[in-house]
Amino acid sequence: MSALDTIETPALHVLPALPYAQTALDPVISANTLGFHHGKHHKGYVDNLNKLIAGTALADHSLERLVAETAGKADKVAIFNNAAQTWNHSFYWRSLRPQGGGEPPAALKQRIEASFGSLDACKKELATAATAQFGSGWAWLVQEADKLKVVKTGNAETPLIQGVKPLLTIDVWEHAYYLDYQNRRADYVNAVLDKLINWGFAADNLG
Ligand SMILES: [Fe+2]
Repeated sequence: MSALDTIETPALHVLPALPYAQTALDPVISANTLGFHHGKHHKGYVDNLNKLIAGTALADHSLERLVAETAGKADKVAIFNNAAQTWNHSFYWRSLRPQGGGEPPAALKQRIEASFGSLDACKKELATAATAQFGSGWAWLVQEADKLKVVKTGNAETPLIQGVKPLLTIDVWEHAYYLDYQNRRADYVNAVLDKLINWGFAADNLG
């Protein structure tokens, strides 16, 4: 074996660090949940993705390009799932913050009121989408042209490639809440909307 054989291929995509301490969302989302969710689930998607694309023509693609180019392709389902879940989770961490919830920044609040009538109506629509999503998936606030709307996606599906601009998301896979809330998804969703949702992040994403 030469010295070169011992050099490992560097990771192509990297698990981003959480934008806050693992304990920072407690008690709404415990450190235990965050530890598994970020350190095992999100990391698993990143690691699987790197394995799947290593040495292929897709290895030098950005994450967004990978998602776009593999969506809907029967022979690329595993790559799509792991790439989209990698992106969705990085977006989810930033959609939350310690001491979140409350009032959105003025520019976003104005857009919310124009599209939904009120902040409460927007939150209700997000909660309904999050609880009504059958099985695993995501609830999203997105921007479509000048209008804001709420959409839900199943499994790894992401509005990133649906012609709209994602503003924030809530993960409703059971791994996001089961350790803290068991089957009470609505309690998790409402607590996130009231106490953790990062309206500032959504405002920054407005086009
Ligand atoms: Fe998740």
